Amino acid sequence: MSKKVKKFDDDPNTTGHSWDGIEEFDNPMPRWWLWTFYATIIWGIGYTIAYPAWPGIQAATAGVLGWNSRALVAEEIAAVEEANAPINARLVETELTEIAADADLNGYAVSSGAAVFKTWCAQCHGAGAAGAKGYPNLLDDDWLWGGTMEDIHVTVTHGIRNEESDEARYSEMPAFGRDELLEKEEIDQVVNFVMSLSGEPQDASKVDAGAVIFADNCASCHMEDGTGDRFQGAPNLADAIWLYGGDYDTLTETIYNSRYGVMPPWNTRLSEAQIRAVSAYVHQLGGGE
Ligand code: HEC
Ligand code: HEC
Repeated sequence: MSKKVKKFDDDPNTTGHSWDGIEEFDNPMPRWWLWTFYATIIWGIGYTIAYPAWPGIQAATAGVLGWNSRALVAEEIAAVEEANAPINARLVETELTEIAADADLNGYAVSSGAAVFKTWCAQCHGAGAAGAKGYPNLLDDDWLWGGTMEDIHVTVTHGIRNEESDEARYSEMPAFGRDELLEKEEIDQVVNFVMSLSGEPQDASKVDAGAVIFADNCASCHMEDGTGDRFQGAPNLADAIWLYGGDYDTLTETIYNSRYGVMPPWNTRLSEAQIRAVSAYVHQLGGGE
């Protein structure tokens, strides 16, 4: 640091800082700047008194104006709910099968059902409802439990194989390998038979033996011809549409361990109007019966 030197008499004082010979003048702050600065401090203190600001251990200070963004959202939601109350009441009162015939009601059900779907269903069934491995595609007319409005409504209300609802749809495919109901060789044979049902390339020499195993162990749920049974949610195995997969390895895995797909009940989380709306939305996606 160099010594404090004035080059000319009317130069202001320097701070004494010098970098490569460039010195820093010690000018006072402009008045307008200083007052603006003080004003922002006063405004800032006022703000933290008026509005929620200082974090505490449990919650932040509430502010003397009582403003609260959550209360604001709650108010807006309440207003929308109030506005929708009459049509929601109509949705709940109308026979499930007659909703589609009422254009206004159906339009409302499908659009609010789409919003329910995006929030509560898309994480498993996909945003476009096309499903994923283990989560059925809801766009096609291939139904595990049924595709009428009533069927969909029951499925959504109580869910499938969950522990929360006594009325959940229920069935359980045995784990044929893990529980030693079938030998490895028998599983190999029945897998080849299942592949033959939908015309997947298979080892033809094993199909006849597989057919016998199928008739004895599988037909009670999947039917003699493999087309499935909706009372038990047993998928059609002859249509080349797969919930888990139709290749040799995936079929072997399914039959060895079984699957036990679970869907939660929705009547504990959604209102009856929301359940009806999302059922109407799913019903009109393409596969509704
Ligand atoms: C945690 C994942 C999960 C969520 C979330 C979920 N589902 Fe499902 N859903 C499943 C599974 C798994 C199955 C298939 C179960 C089986 O194997 O029978 C299923 C089956 C269904 C079926 C039966 C399809 C058929 O072919 O019969 C319908 C309808 C359905 N879901 C609608 C919905 C709706 C509507 C929602 C949102 C309110 C929803 N699901 C949310 C996992 C989920
Ligand atoms: C008690 C009824 C029942 C019996 C018996 C049964 N299944 Fe299943 N099966 C089901 C159900 C229910 C599913 C749906 C999957 C789940 O549990 O999530 C299923 C699913 C399947 C799938 C998956 C289909 C797909 O789309 O991915 C295959 C393959 C299958 N079963 C083959 C068999 C074979 C082979 C046998 C006999 C060795 C058999 N099942 C016996 C009820 C049964």
